[in-house]
Amino acid sequence: MHIISIANQKGGVGKSTLSSLFAYYLADKKSARVLAVDLDSQRNLSHTLRQCGIDIPTTALFADARIDLPAVRKNIALIHATPQLANLERASAEDANRRVQTFAAHLEAMQEEFDYCLLDPPPTLGIRMVAALASADFVTVPIELEEYSTQAVKDMLQTVFGVRQQWNPKLKFMGILANRFMHNSTRQKAALQELFENYQDYVLPLKISTRAAIPRALEEGRGVWQLPTAAARDASAEVLQVFEALMKKMEPVNEEAAVN
Ligand SMILES: Nc1ncnc2c1ncn2[C@@H]1O[C@H](COP(=O)(O)OP(=O)(O)O)[C@@H](O)[C@H]1O
Ligand SMILES: [Mg+2]
Repeated sequence: MHIISIANQKGGVGKSTLSSLFAYYLADKKSARVLAVDLDSQRNLSHTLRQCGIDIPTTALFADARIDLPAVRKNIALIHATPQLANLERASAEDANRRVQTFAAHLEAMQEEFDYCLLDPPPTLGIRMVAALASADFVTVPIELEEYSTQAVKDMLQTVFGVRQQWNPKLKFMGILANRFMHNSTRQKAALQELFENYQDYVLPLKISTRAAIPRALEEGRGVWQLPTAAARDASAEVLQVFEALMKKMEPVNEEAAVN
């Protein structure tokens, strides 16, 4: 099971949107068995994927009791958020470490049941964000160019590399992803250019524009590539390009080829 987190300490950048779409993509286009875990008490992912709920709350992943997965599931299984999830952030430092380990151990126990696991953390730096990054194999950071600030990007990179150093040396950074791009904004075009230049090695050389078809598809509970409109085709092309790039980043590096 590949564990992926789409993370940012900022809200409104598209974490939950891209997590839902990626879940649909993996299930639809790759026939994969997908586990989606909503770590945000705002519950956006839980709402979008509500048809896929398996009646296990995310709080269970932080508790010691054994978790029994239901035998019959759809190709996407949602572990849903509840308002109580936010209480986790009040744990003492020692308890916090134990909870992060418990979360990782529960996911580890589900390795054979799914091909991919998507973790949608809240927009705060706390236990749940650390748990997501400490358990993930891969992370990508969506940003919104409108509010793009160099400092915010630096802070998030610091978080990712900090957790990697302290908790999870296997964590692979797949790159910053520009989302909600507005074509007709010269300011955003300049910001995108600047991002590509300043963070070359850390940015996916792609973008996803602001497209009404994206929230519309999610409201209907499907991928944007399944909407029949022309506007959805443009959105779909961008989204699929990004997901294909992420799939490439998850391919194992052929070390022999790299050496020779
Ligand atoms: N590419 C996009 N085009 C149009 N709307 C988008 C796009 N990405 C995100 N949104 C919208 O922006 C808002 C915030 O996105 P969301 O995924 O909830 O962000 P986060 O999980 O980072 O807080 C939502 O209303 C969502 O529908
Ligand atoms: Mg969200």
